[in-house]
This record gives sequence, C-alpha cells and structure tokens, in this order.
Amino acid sequence: MKVTVVGAGAVGATCADNIARKQLCDELVIVDIKEGFAEGKAMDLSQTAQIEGFDTKITGSTNDYTKTAGSSVAVITSGIPRKPGMTREELIGINAGIVKTVTQNILAHSPECIIIIISNPMDTMTYLALKESGLPKHRIIGMGGILDSARFRYFLSQAMNCSPNDLQATVVGGHGDTTMIPLTRLATYCGTPAANYLSAEALAKVAADTMVGGATLTGLLGTSAWYAPGAAGAALVEAIVRDEKKMMPCCVSLEGEYGQSDICIGVPVIIGRNGWEKIVDYKLDEEEQAAFNKSADAVRSMNSVLATLEI
Ligand code: LAC
Repeated sequence: MKVTVVGAGAVGATCADNIARKQLCDELVIVDIKEGFAEGKAMDLSQTAQIEGFDTKITGSTNDYTKTAGSSVAVITSGIPRKPGMTREELIGINAGIVKTVTQNILAHSPECIIIIISNPMDTMTYLALKESGLPKHRIIGMGGILDSARFRYFLSQAMNCSPNDLQATVVGGHGDTTMIPLTRLATYCGTPAANYLSAEALAKVAADTMVGGATLTGLLGTSAWYAPGAAGAALVEAIVRDEKKMMPCCVSLEGEYGQSDICIGVPVIIGRNGWEKIVDYKLDEEEQAAFNKSADAVRSMNSVLATLEI
C-alpha cells in the first residue's frame, strides 16, 4: 500500500505524520514544489520512526511525480492557506490552477488512485478535481465535513463539560463560514439528544462557534489551522486503506441525493476501500433542508467562478 500527500506545508506534513504513526501504508511519498522541502519533511518524519515505532518508508519529492507511481490514495493539500480576515473562497483564483495540475500529475502515475481534497475552497476544489479528472465519482472525496464535525464535537464538549468521544454530531453542507450546517437537532450524548443537556441558546452558540471555527484559528495563528485538518485527512486515509465502512461527513458528488445535483458538497457517506461507497440519508427536516439548499446555492455560485478562470 502506497499513499501520497501533495503539499508539505503544515496541513500536509501533519497529515503525513498521522499516516506514518498509524502505519497506514508501507510507503508514504510527500511531494512539494519548493526545492528540498518535501525531502526535508520526509527525512525529519523518518527520524521519528524509531521513537514512534513505525516502519513506513517515507520519501520526499520536489515535484517529481514518478515517485508517487502506484499510489492507492493521494491527499491534495497544495495551495495557499488563508490569512486572517480572508475567506476560504478568496483562494479560488490561485488554488484552482494548482489543484488541477496536481490532480493530473497524480493520475498520470496512479490511474487507480482515490483522491482526497483538502485545498480550499474545498467544495469547489473537489468539484474541479471531479470534472477535470473524469474519474468515477466515488474516487474523489473532499475532507471538510470530518474537520467541521470534529470542531462541532469540541465546542459541544466544552459547553457540556463532557468527552468529545461521547458525542455524535455532524456538520453537513459547504465547508465555509456561512455555508456549513451543524445539525444540532441530531447531536447526541451517549445516544441521548444533546438538547436534553443544553438550552436552545447554548446549542445555537455551539453551532455559531463551529461555523467560524477555522476563522477563529486563522485569527489566532495568523494562518490556517493544521493539526485538526491534517488529522482529519489521515482519518479519511485510514477509513479507506482499512476498509472501515465508517460513516464520515465528506464532500462528494450528488446526483439527486439531498435534493441536489451537479455539485460536490458535504453529506454523511460510508468510507471504505472503494472511496466513498454510499450516501446516508439523514432525513433532514424542512428547516435543515432549506439551509442545505441555501448552502448548495452558495457552493454552486463559487463553482461558477471556475468557468471565468484561466487555468
Ligand atoms: C480550516 C481550513 C483547513 O477549516 O479550511 O481550518
């Protein structure tokens, strides 16, 4: 089993670190355009092998995709991250060209690969990768919902003073500050409704904090977050390579599910060896469906910008 991570920045390196420590593959290749950068990250990570007790062989490559040949999964993190005050959507002009080229390079050497998109704006980059590659839809997965749902559980756990591991909570819709939908009605604590423990106001605050979770971190850090995004990418790789059939909220291509078509957006899916294998119908109520449709409109309008770009 071979896995490639493209982009050796903070998110890509953290993702690679998690993949290696969990020993999800025999071979891990890190690619970056900056001369020597991926090689350096690969060497540094490799020197943790004895300390952490893993045997994954990690290689770095400056834009030489021949080294990625035969990968089963590729995680694309390349592109510029957002700075304080920027939305994910403002990155589209630069990142679209990068994601398109990277996707082509990956598939030229690993035609059977499953592609995970982390680059922002994530929903539009997933749609772009799907359209440009012509791959079967099950092999293109955007990561955002796993991260947003982990943040949702974090804020819920803070409000409830409980373990995030005792919570089930899902974010659907776009991976944007105004487009994501934390499903508070369906959030549970050990199988019981979270609404039993928190007031409507407290739940609304948890949802609002979740939606700007990425922006809050960008404000604090001066750049986009990396620990949770990188860990979320690795969790997706894990579900694929171990064929876990785990339910994860991910950005996938809809063809009528959740009332939407010709769009990639976050819904709960089952992840296994074939990529995303099935969409799970959460049976949204009227209000949630209206929010989902609004989110889809926003993502679709971002997708329409792709046609205006020269990439
Ligand atoms: C975030 C970026 C990775 O939400 O989109 O932190």
